[in-house]
Amino acid sequence: MNILITGGSGFIGGAVSRALVADGHHVGVVSRHPVRASRKLPDAVDVRQSLALFNGFEPEVVINLAGEPIANRRWSQARKAKLINSRVETTEQLVDWLRQQGLRPGVFISASAVGYYGHHDSEKVTEDTPKGEGFSSDLCAAWETAALKASSLCDAVSILRIGLVLDQPGGLLDRYVPPFKLGLGGRFGSGEQFMPWVHRRDVVRIIQFLMNSPEHHGVFNVSAPSPVTNAAFATALAQTLNRPQCLHVPAVVLKGAFGEMSELMLEGANMVPKRLLDAGFEFEFPTVTEAFSEIFDR
Ligand SMILES: NC(=O)c1ccc[n+]([C@@H]2O[C@H](COP(=O)([O-])OP(=O)(O)OC[C@H]3O[C@@H](n4cnc5c(N)ncnc54)[C@H](OP(=O)(O)O)[C@@H]3O)[C@@H](O)[C@H]2O)c1
Repeated sequence: MNILITGGSGFIGGAVSRALVADGHHVGVVSRHPVRASRKLPDAVDVRQSLALFNGFEPEVVINLAGEPIANRRWSQARKAKLINSRVETTEQLVDWLRQQGLRPGVFISASAVGYYGHHDSEKVTEDTPKGEGFSSDLCAAWETAALKASSLCDAVSILRIGLVLDQPGGLLDRYVPPFKLGLGGRFGSGEQFMPWVHRRDVVRIIQFLMNSPEHHGVFNVSAPSPVTNAAFATALAQTLNRPQCLHVPAVVLKGAFGEMSELMLEGANMVPKRLLDAGFEFEFPTVTEAFSEIFDR
């Protein structure tokens, strides 16, 4: 199949591109830095700098993963605008391009995040749980609205509300692991906030599953069936790395250091992948211990 990916050079997109090329697909990636992106991707991936350069490429599947990194720096007003524009405007441009080109790909898959739900205590959060509050939630809702405009063109539009994606190198673990290796890791705040996580390999498998079974579409929570609290995540990581877990970072310190962005560390939701499980998807890494074992014993 012809598959077009935005954000295909990133942590998730790179793994998706590699897997789809290995499956024999013709993969096109839109990247602002095509030379750099090409170096990270298999030679068979067709990397071009803009959508306009893909005129004539007729994707049967579109996968939309582009977006400025959300946790790289404090959320000033300018930074928030960048986080929004790099997702909402990019998605709108993608849908407009499909329309202008007269394209109707069968499957359109677009990223969103667990942040859609805002903060919840321990009650289970499924795809039926309403939108929450806060910047992350508003951002995800606007991003999803932009992606859903593809419904007028594509039979199967899926929104992936992705949890914290685990693998190495890259992603969340690049920040988490160094202090733990020094024996300085620990929980954030009360540690009771949930961290719905998912192994990157399962994210790739979920995208392949949705591409190949378009009868399943709509909103999907993309996280393993056994989410853990921040404290349990810290304990499992310390045990896997065989290090003590000494430090606890108080909420007030995180709020002072990161401002509003500290909601990423101090808030969470007990998100479960109800619709994926109902659709018969089987996770390769259902527990965080299994995920850590694969990542660190590789
Ligand atoms: N990783 C996670 O744990 C996680 C969790 C929930 C949701 N998500 C979402 O899933 C998507 C992919 O995540 P990821 O971890 O793979 O992110 P990533 O590694 O930061 O990659 C995102 C890609 O988006 C492109 N991009 C960045 N800024 C852009 C901009 N201003 N305009 C257009 N494109 C831009 C970049 O491609 P070029 O530099 O090649 O243009 C980059 O490769 C993101 O939208 C992210 O918010 C990720």
